[in-house]
Amino acid sequence: MAFGKIPRFSPSFTVREALLSARHLAGTERDAQAVERFEREFRSYIGARHAVMVPSARYGLYLLLEAFGVGQGDEVVLPALTYFAVPAMVPLLGARPVFADVGLRSHVLDPAAFEAAISPRTKAVVPTHLFGTPCDMDAIREIARRRGVAVIEDCAQSTGARYKGVRVGNLGDAAYYTFGLTKNMTTLSGAMITTDRDEVAERIRATIQAGGPTPRKKLAKEAVTGLAMVVATHPWVYWATVHPAVVLGNKLGQDPIHERFGEAEVRYDKLPSSYSRSSRARAVQAEIGLSQLNRLEALNGARIRNGRKLDQGLAHIPGLTVPTYPEGAEPIYMSFVVHHARRDELARALRARGVDTTVGYMSDCSDSPLFPEYRAECPNASRAHAELLHIPVHPNLNERDVAHMIEATRQACLEIGA
Ligand SMILES: Cc1ncc(COP(=O)(O)O)c(C=O)c1O
Repeated sequence: MAFGKIPRFSPSFTVREALLSARHLAGTERDAQAVERFEREFRSYIGARHAVMVPSARYGLYLLLEAFGVGQGDEVVLPALTYFAVPAMVPLLGARPVFADVGLRSHVLDPAAFEAAISPRTKAVVPTHLFGTPCDMDAIREIARRRGVAVIEDCAQSTGARYKGVRVGNLGDAAYYTFGLTKNMTTLSGAMITTDRDEVAERIRATIQAGGPTPRKKLAKEAVTGLAMVVATHPWVYWATVHPAVVLGNKLGQDPIHERFGEAEVRYDKLPSSYSRSSRARAVQAEIGLSQLNRLEALNGARIRNGRKLDQGLAHIPGLTVPTYPEGAEPIYMSFVVHHARRDELARALRARGVDTTVGYMSDCSDSPLFPEYRAECPNASRAHAELLHIPVHPNLNERDVAHMIEATRQACLEIGA
């Protein structure tokens, strides 16, 4: 990065992949063949029997819950700290989301809270490997097996992470992933489900096949946005344009990046018809996915190197709390999330030192105006939500950047006090 200015995010998408997108968007390649090839590679990377491309992770979850027979009057346990669109799928099937607390510093589902949330109506649990950190899956699986609950892993932020040597997505009955432009691997737009269950995969594949293809215009727009992200996070461009805009926005009490890319939190009372209308992936998504999958180990490896340095360098700073990881979890550091009682001041002090941060887009869904009828007591999720801050950990950071961030954080914490 240039002149000590560090963006909160940097895409895995490249200029070469932008050119590849243009070629495949204009080409006449058969969509089904390319998608099949990507699904085959992806399922063998994860180690699952089936992989089916779906248009979004939330729709993937909806289809999985439906395939596992979740319906009227059933309950689904979810972590309270999650993306609002995930629990929002459950009532669309006539079922009830039940929020369970997370570990305060691990941010992932607490197995004891999961067990306490189970009732005779519980059909499924959605352990969410949030921020790239695998959940305590031995404990969760043991409870789920004993109580007859299906396990659907949310791997949206953890593609490629492992738990006790096994890739996430292989640790339950089924899993879903998402490949938007801001994820650790992208297909421009789109997502995937994996499962070992033939009947589940076949049912979901049939639903996806019955829909139309993803509109080319949407994919072209994503490719242009991806290229714009590459340019905007180029060290010199970032230093000269985006960083000053972020600092100015901050002074005016705004976050221009969040305002541009954030999604409004709304709930639907029925499944939007657009989910099923354009459900089939195009060749261009598969080709970008294959290119990204080839680089995923290297991309995750860089995240892991940076994350481990932050784990060490940010430990023992007064007032600052670093994350913890369940035993056996092998995180990919999709995000590096610290806590501070005065996190907004910390964010300002870091920005003044060239380091941009974000509070991200997770909600405490147990205490959200979006889900008033499902309110629950989840003190760790509430506290984490109020105190968390994402420190940059993306693969394009070098050793000097990480050392700069550690020193900047130390100074910023000293300045604002514990
Ligand atoms: C943890 C988690 N689950 C699910 C999703 C939903 O993904 P999609 O936007 O593909 O529906 C996201 C989105 O980023 C997420 O972060």
